[in-house]
Amino acid sequence: MLAGVKVFATRRYPGAAFDELEDVEVLPLAELREPREDVEGLFLANEPVPLELLPRLRVVANFGVGYDRIDVEACAARGVIVTNTPGVLDAATADLAFALLLAARRQVVTGDRFVRSGGWSGSWSEGGLAEELSGSTLGIVGLGRIGSAVARRARGFDLRVLYTRRSDAGSELGEPRELDELLAESDLVSLHVPLTPETDGLLDARRLGLLRPGAVLVNTARGEIVDEPALIAELVSGRISAGLDVFAHEPEVPARLLELPNVVLTPHIGSATRQTREAMTRLAVDNLLAVERGDPLLTPVPG
Ligand code: 8YV
Repeated sequence: MLAGVKVFATRRYPGAAFDELEDVEVLPLAELREPREDVEGLFLANEPVPLELLPRLRVVANFGVGYDRIDVEACAARGVIVTNTPGVLDAATADLAFALLLAARRQVVTGDRFVRSGGWSGSWSEGGLAEELSGSTLGIVGLGRIGSAVARRARGFDLRVLYTRRSDAGSELGEPRELDELLAESDLVSLHVPLTPETDGLLDARRLGLLRPGAVLVNTARGEIVDEPALIAELVSGRISAGLDVFAHEPEVPARLLELPNVVLTPHIGSATRQTREAMTRLAVDNLLAVERGDPLLTPVPG
């Protein structure tokens, strides 16, 4: 069997692959207070790495594609490799972005509440008529793996796709735009950039003000990419709608959002399907096992 790498996992991650870790201890990081000389692997979900408590750490396997709470530079300086789970969660996250676009556009949640309230007595008059999704323009901020999966789904809904992307390479999935132009031209906007110092607060009050009246903003990326108070002000004014899966201070959700009919809220579930979460565990475990075997890592993050 493998030369056991002692792994700390911050929880039991879903799927049978987790059991392939030979020597694993499940422990939330908050409970790690004393230095542990024996731990060489850390399995976590975008949490700060306590390097000072793990002097012999060799690898951090992140359960997720985003690693904004992990200080990759500090890890690299200590020779600790960080891996993530790109690719396997694209479809699930793109599906949720579409669910939020549809829900926000087609009054799915307000309609559901209306039916449950017992107030349906013939016709749906309270909510007024929705704007149609088909034929709209969708602006994808960040045409990477997940953004591209959203763009492919958009074809089936007869959407015109605009996009921004890091590289200058064109894409047949849509038309490139500068961010400000994209915001001003789109009926629907979906965010798919990672959280970095450059994207923190990317959609500030000025940029939110560029959105068209009636536009829908969907965020399945990171809450911090949008100036949350400015977004709340736009939503309170009723000028735009939103579908939000992520928030600036999770799991806190600003109380004001809970009262608004023009926002659909989900609890950071972009990757939360059985198939995807199991695939994420598989990939994270394979990275940890690669370290044990001395094999090349499957998905290291750039250090
Ligand atoms: C979370 C995510 O990691 O992949 C990401 O970047 O945000 C999610 O997949 C997941 O919810 C585990 O907390």
